[in-house]
Amino acid sequence: MMKFVRVGAIAAALTLSLPAFAEGNVEAGRIKANTCMGCHGIPQYDNAYPRYRVPKIGGQHRDYIVAALKEYRSGNRPHKTMQAQAASLSDQDIEDIASYLEHSAAHK
Ligand code: HEC
Repeated sequence: MMKFVRVGAIAAALTLSLPAFAEGNVEAGRIKANTCMGCHGIPQYDNAYPRYRVPKIGGQHRDYIVAALKEYRSGNRPHKTMQAQAASLSDQDIEDIASYLEHSAAHK
């Protein structure tokens, strides 16, 4: 009997703690990612000057996008354009955007 109570308590604790680990909000991310699409939404987009390719971010794994954006934001990853983009993002923004991008079927 005690065993079942304990399992139940653990299950309840896990359920309750879920929101802390919840993925970002895909819908919120769709809106927040709007500005990103100016560059990342155009297939084969090349920046005019200096000339560089804009990487595909739609369909990437969310952890990868979260890591990349936090690196840009902290300045660990060098790229002026993306550092400027990431500078204004909160952790929640990053989670939301990453979730949206992971789920976005369009491989941009
Ligand atoms: C002005 C154009 C522009 C905008 C706007 C822009 N990006 Fe980028 N992004 C780039 C370029 C160029 C790179 C490649 C930088 C590099 O080589 O490190 C990049 C790189 C990235 C990467 C790393 C991809 C990889 O494969 O390593 C991620 C993630 C990313 N951007 C997400 C975003 C998000 C999210 C937004 C919106 C908040 C955004 N970008 C807005 C141009 C842009």
